[in-house]
Amino acid sequence: MLETTFSIVKPDATKRNLIGKIVSRFEEEGLCVRAMKMKQLSAQEAEGFYAEHRERPFFKDLVNFMTSGPVVLMALQGEGAVLRNREIMGATNPADAAEGTLRKLYAESIEANSVHGSDSAESAARELAYFFSGIELYNN
Ligand code: CMP
Repeated sequence: MLETTFSIVKPDATKRNLIGKIVSRFEEEGLCVRAMKMKQLSAQEAEGFYAEHRERPFFKDLVNFMTSGPVVLMALQGEGAVLRNREIMGATNPADAAEGTLRKLYAESIEANSVHGSDSAESAARELAYFFSGIELYNN
């Protein structure tokens, strides 16, 4: 099924000049960029985005990390894009990520793990709407 998912190139990756390598990988794997913007998140924006993690012990650090530099926000479209994106990223913790996945290749830690991707179609819809208006999404 043709789906659109939401992806973030996180501050650890934008700082290390890895935007192109990460976007290329998505494209090589058959996902198409349908919206894209670079943005410095405010604490309020990061807190709202990660609201489901508010009670987790790592929440404050996560917000500090996500506001430590610019991020690249993307809509990625393709067949089964939600799962496909997660496969390309690998496990949240790079220590657990499979060979060749983006997090295995690039992540510095479980927190500074280079990329975010929606975990379900429902999350994708919420996350896309959080950062993009309808007219910013192509072919949707
Ligand atoms: P992400 O997929 O963006 O979703 C939540 C983020 O919290 C996760 O990637 C990591 O960047 C960060 N994080 C930090 N510590 C943990 C942890 N112990 N478990 C899960 N996520 C963590």
